[in-house]
Amino acid sequence: MEARTCLAIVLAAGEGTRMRSSRPKVLHPVAGRSLLAHVLAAVGEAGVTSTAVVIGPGQEDVAAEAKRVLPGAAVFVQRERKGTAHAVLAAKSAIERHPGDILVVYGDTPLIRPATLAALRAPLAGGAAIAVLAFRPSDPAGYGRLIMAGDEVTAIREEADASAHERAIGLCNGGIMALAGKSALAILERIGDHNRKKEFYLTDAVEIARASKLRVVAVEVEEDDVRGINTKKELAEAEAVAQQRLRRAALDAGVTLVAPDTVFLSTDTRFGKDVVVEPYVVFGEKVVVDDGAVIHAFSHLAGAHVGKGVSVGPFARLRPGAKLGEGARIGNFVEVKEAVFGAGAKANHLSYIGDASVGDNANIGAGTITCNYDGSAKHRTEVGKNAFIGSNSALVAPVSIGDGAYVGSGSVITADVPPDSLALARGRQVIKEGWASRLRALKSIVKKKAHSRD
Ligand code: UD1
Ligand code: CA
Repeated sequence: MEARTCLAIVLAAGEGTRMRSSRPKVLHPVAGRSLLAHVLAAVGEAGVTSTAVVIGPGQEDVAAEAKRVLPGAAVFVQRERKGTAHAVLAAKSAIERHPGDILVVYGDTPLIRPATLAALRAPLAGGAAIAVLAFRPSDPAGYGRLIMAGDEVTAIREEADASAHERAIGLCNGGIMALAGKSALAILERIGDHNRKKEFYLTDAVEIARASKLRVVAVEVEEDDVRGINTKKELAEAEAVAQQRLRRAALDAGVTLVAPDTVFLSTDTRFGKDVVVEPYVVFGEKVVVDDGAVIHAFSHLAGAHVGKGVSVGPFARLRPGAKLGEGARIGNFVEVKEAVFGAGAKANHLSYIGDASVGDNANIGAGTITCNYDGSAKHRTEVGKNAFIGSNSALVAPVSIGDGAYVGSGSVITADVPPDSLALARGRQVIKEGWASRLRALKSIVKKKAHSRD
């Protein structure tokens, strides 16, 4: 693409009533990221020079998400929701300042790819006034239909306004439109609201451009690129497509996914070389897995950094702030949160390690719990290098176990343990010889008496 500038206008002001949710539609997640973040990421990678996001009144959370993903984005508020063309004109001052291409992208089409956006701009360089992204959905219900004459688009008809004949058209509007800068504003300002919904439809730009003898073309793409999300069903369908893409990318990058369809990834999941992921593993946001690590079946990870050659699971839960050093081992039914494990450190069975640091090669025995929460505040536990925590111990934070120290199993540790020492903090064992046989004898006497009374 030559150096023509491009302003992207992302429409996100709709209420999304069909989602039946109190959350704004564009903040719903697909593959661990909001719909809006997906769209802005694609826009950011498509050679766009500036971005405007149109939000609804009071949608500060949508504005915050836009700024988080693309700090340079300008946010405009559409005061009343009067349709997609009306929403575009909320960013009129940005359009006036901008001489190059205009790309209108709907905030509810999260699967759009940067290459598709770039392809849509291409016809503008060839003199077209408008390029419309078209697709043939398996179910066209709800989409605007493209009315064609040869390779030119003559109109887009919204479903509510379409005749039975027009509804039978399979080619639909993907909701993304590129407009040549020099005619864009004049076209947009002529759009009226003479339709069934009394809304200003962006799609009417097509007929207005044609009336001025301008050329409108369609660029056809796969359905998956432009799936619009209006309902929870469509959200789930988009999630499935996003997961297929992420699994495919992970496999292409050399990750071993034993049963790809059972592994759920986030858009930002990062894998090193020779990583193995067993079946039924969920990766929430912000997970990094370094070279040679193995994630065993039924594990759940989020916000975790898994170091080189680490073994996680089966049935492990890594929560945000879990950081596992090279060769560490986190076994079954172990939960780790805000805790750093040094190289070779192990917690192999049934433990909760939170707000802690565990030194290199330390061994956390089965059933160890860091008691990090006192009902109002969180406290830290420090376990030194080569320390050994016996099974079923409670480490009551704040507390520190020195390097090389031993904690006897079943201990409740409430005070710091010096390096290389042994701490035993449990009730003393009591032996009463012959106690059990005396008990049994007593029971049989009681039983015999009961029988003799029958
Ligand atoms: C729109 C298109 C339809 C296309 C479909 C593709 C129009 C008139 N119709 O229909 O041809 O097939 O997308 O998915 O453009 N929005 C605002 N302000 C408004 C209204 C909408 O910002 O006043 C935003 C919404 O947040 C959404 C986008 O514009 O991100 C599209 O609006 P939506 O109501 O979902 O349009 P569709 O009925 O799906
Ligand atoms: Ca839509």
